Amino acid sequence: MKTQSQSTATEIETAPSFDVQRIREDFPILKQKVHGKPLVYLDNAATSQKPQAVIDTLTRYYLGQNANIHRGVHYLSEIATYEYEKARGKVKLFLNASDSREIIFVRGTTEGINLVKDTYGRKFIGKNDEIVISAMEHHSNIVPWQILCEEKGAKLRVIPMNDRGELLLDEYEKLLNEHTKFVSVVYVSNSLGTINPIKKIIQRAHERGIPVLVDGAQAASHLKVNVQDLDCDFFVFSGHKVFGPTGIGALYGKTKYLEQMPPYQGGGDMISSVTFEKTTYNVLPYKFEAGTPNIADVIGMGTGIDYVTGVGFEAITAYEKELLKYATEAISNIEGVRIIGTAEEKAGVISFVLGTVHAHDVGTILDQEGIAVRTGHHCTQPVMQRFGIPATARASFAFYNTMEEVDALARGLGKVKEIFGA
Ligand code: ALA
Repeated sequence: MKTQSQSTATEIETAPSFDVQRIREDFPILKQKVHGKPLVYLDNAATSQKPQAVIDTLTRYYLGQNANIHRGVHYLSEIATYEYEKARGKVKLFLNASDSREIIFVRGTTEGINLVKDTYGRKFIGKNDEIVISAMEHHSNIVPWQILCEEKGAKLRVIPMNDRGELLLDEYEKLLNEHTKFVSVVYVSNSLGTINPIKKIIQRAHERGIPVLVDGAQAASHLKVNVQDLDCDFFVFSGHKVFGPTGIGALYGKTKYLEQMPPYQGGGDMISSVTFEKTTYNVLPYKFEAGTPNIADVIGMGTGIDYVTGVGFEAITAYEKELLKYATEAISNIEGVRIIGTAEEKAGVISFVLGTVHAHDVGTILDQEGIAVRTGHHCTQPVMQRFGIPATARASFAFYNTMEEVDALARGLGKVKEIFGA
């Protein structure tokens, strides 16, 4: 009977330069106990934990820098403005954008997609036009386009996937036609872990002159993103998934599109001049940033980005690959487990069902062991429908997770089996 992982944590070799215990010291929350057990945080696809540096940045901002930006000639306003714009420069480097004007701060991935839908979409997509998304989109990359389609009489087309959770590129090509006006696809699936061949997806669309938005919410913490190399037209991610605060994210857009797009929201800072007869809009990126922005969290996100780039994506990707391999083996060796999402190219996400035990029961028992996983449909109901299941339990990893934590998860699942006789 297969009940346990066949290899042990100590047998796995990781890059010698990657000292996970040292990294964990930077994340105070990881030291706490939950229900009397050491916290095993495996819900990183929902949100990542924050290093002390990010917490310190927020404290420093509110203790000594807080002021409104772009508006004051006084000392604090100048400091806050400087720090805010410095963070924009960090995002530019993080994504390898060619210009800071291409970086727009938004509340997160969801708002970034809605911004593009409300501006580019409303202006350039009309009756009988088609928008292509994929079968593994998060609701935030489905619903905005459905709303637009309803408003404009446009149609949504969906790239199907195979049983491993890989998109069918041949089918994708067949969907592209003279009516296709936009493609919006996820880079890394939050519920399957699939890393999509996004560069190819972009190339195929560009061959027909169709712009592409990449939902980078899950990619940004696992992979080095290079928007110039990908040649995507829009890219969105959330700060809280890259070790920064919640309520902040960024939209990258090519200048040629951003310049043609109408503003998203009207208000202060997005204007150049206002009279009752006519308003003219500010230059990029301010045209898209109406009102007082989330200044503290922009600056905090900048520190999160500093942190993750300091650890380095080469090391992160290599370590997470080992962790995923180890976890996949450990979990799939447990009898009754079915992993949902077995793509060749995957990031650190393992969704699974355990016999007939409901995912919420799996999550509740694991929680009693101090182990945090997400359960449910993960805001991807069409993915659940595709696999004929109502829900999964999902363990999602970050570079501060350890092989020992994977062992704890496997033991926790053993408990679930004992309790439910699964
Ligand atoms: N999209 C986030 C997740 O997958 C919230 O959990």
